Amino acid sequence: MALYNHNFGRILVFPMTIKRILGISAGMVLASSFLFGQDEAKGKEVFEQCGVCHAADSDEKKMGPGLKGLFKKKTLADGKTAVTESSVRKKIDEGGNGMPAYAEMLDKKEKDNLIAYLKTL
Ligand code: HEC
Repeated sequence: MALYNHNFGRILVFPMTIKRILGISAGMVLASSFLFGQDEAKGKEVFEQCGVCHAADSDEKKMGPGLKGLFKKKTLADGKTAVTESSVRKKIDEGGNGMPAYAEMLDKKEKDNLIAYLKTL
């Protein structure tokens, strides 16, 4: 009721503001999550720091193996470890053989989003 308290200026300005706010945020959300859900889009942002060493759009090796189709593969690049959510999380947490350890560098939510993104590759 407070919004309609006989204040004409407010009634006229209010819808425009809302429209502008909705326009801006809808644009940002659309830009990043048109193809993905929210988590995947956030994971893609986290992945930017991995992109130095990993291609997301090919399985060609940069510093580390290309990660395209990671979750469709049977094993990791070692040819032994099955690709599961937990083996991939372990690799991200512990690193090794040139891969930095991210256990302390990313929080749980960032890692969850990252995994959601990796599954889309
Ligand atoms: C400094 C370069 C570098 C960065 C940065 C890096 N990695 Fe790696 N990554 C590697 C290397 C090198 C390997 C191969 C290690 C091995 O064979 O044991 C690897 C392996 C992996 C693997 C296993 C792939 C496979 O098929 O065996 C995954 C998954 C992975 N990295 C994900 C990530 C993610 C996610 C990030 C960002 C949070 C990241 N990496 C950042 C270098 C890097």
